[in-house]
Amino acid sequence: MLDAKALLLFLMIVRIFSFPRFARFFVLSGALIGALALAACGQKAAPSADHPTAPAPGKKIHLAYIAKGMQDVYWKSVEAGLREAEKEVNASGQNLEVTWDAPTTDGDRPAQISMVENYVSQHVDGIILCPLDDNALVAPAEKAHRAGIPLVIVDSTLNYPETVTFVGTDNHHGGELAGEELARLLNDKGNVIMMRYNPGSASCADREQGFLDAMKKHPGIKILSSDNYAGNSRETALDNGQRLLATYTGQIDGVFTPNESSTNGMFLALQTAGLAGKVKFVGFDGGTQNMAALQVGLINALVLQNPFQMGYLGVKVMLDHLDGKPVPANIDTGATLVTKDNLDSPAVKALLDHTVQ
Ligand code: BDR
Repeated sequence: MLDAKALLLFLMIVRIFSFPRFARFFVLSGALIGALALAACGQKAAPSADHPTAPAPGKKIHLAYIAKGMQDVYWKSVEAGLREAEKEVNASGQNLEVTWDAPTTDGDRPAQISMVENYVSQHVDGIILCPLDDNALVAPAEKAHRAGIPLVIVDSTLNYPETVTFVGTDNHHGGELAGEELARLLNDKGNVIMMRYNPGSASCADREQGFLDAMKKHPGIKILSSDNYAGNSRETALDNGQRLLATYTGQIDGVFTPNESSTNGMFLALQTAGLAGKVKFVGFDGGTQNMAALQVGLINALVLQNPFQMGYLGVKVMLDHLDGKPVPANIDTGATLVTKDNLDSPAVKALLDHTVQ
């Protein structure tokens, strides 16, 4: 649809062509510069995910926070953090609603994909996403971006550049912390197994790689197995853990697992095999059973994250972005090696105070 300015410009050009040739050049150049100036001042960058128009003051802001699952206690701490942010923002007079959502079955990629698509069609003001799979969630993320909906990625990275930021643990470093602790517990010698979590889970893949990279610095330690997966839940982790322990009966001196459910499942497998407390065991994440086993020395160490901060900061940085404020490309929420000996330290107590067990 031609607007008034374009019509005026067209008529001007037609009129100019009635001028003598030498005069045309000067007049046409002036008209062209005028047209460009008109076009520039009339246009405003359309709002987009990269350049959102800040919601009008008082307008309700609706964010969707989509987690990986609901089973692990870990996600309850993420939700506690986002609710804290939501409460703070509304107490300051803004009007914020955060919808918390996740697949009911852990690892359900199709469910998480349709959740993202659903919030895009609702045209929420922003989506905060903990991707179950670093590739499978790219297509729905592109849909959000094309719809002008900004994306903050939390916990687990996504192979897609058009996002506001990443909020989460430096997972490779977390895996290195675990590897160095297991090497220390084994006095730098022995046989270990690593049971991975799930293909496509970038957070755990990074930890697994960090662990293996740390092991390379300890040639006295042999990796018996590092390519078996726990699966989505503690139940699958128990089954696969029992299979692994049976395969390497009598050879295992140490074990590493990269997240809450794989750690919990492997602990139960060690218990049923009568190995709990006999092999050195370093895991990731808390949760009631993991923490209870740590307190009595059946798990030697856990690398704890800060899921509460991931929930809290995920909301806050999205609001900063919507306000047009600069946001760092990566926000590291920290990783802490916790053992029976530092459980009562102020830093660990502060972390556990915000972690739902
Ligand atoms: C666990 O899965 C990972 O993605 C999280 O970082 C956490 O370690 C929760 O089940």
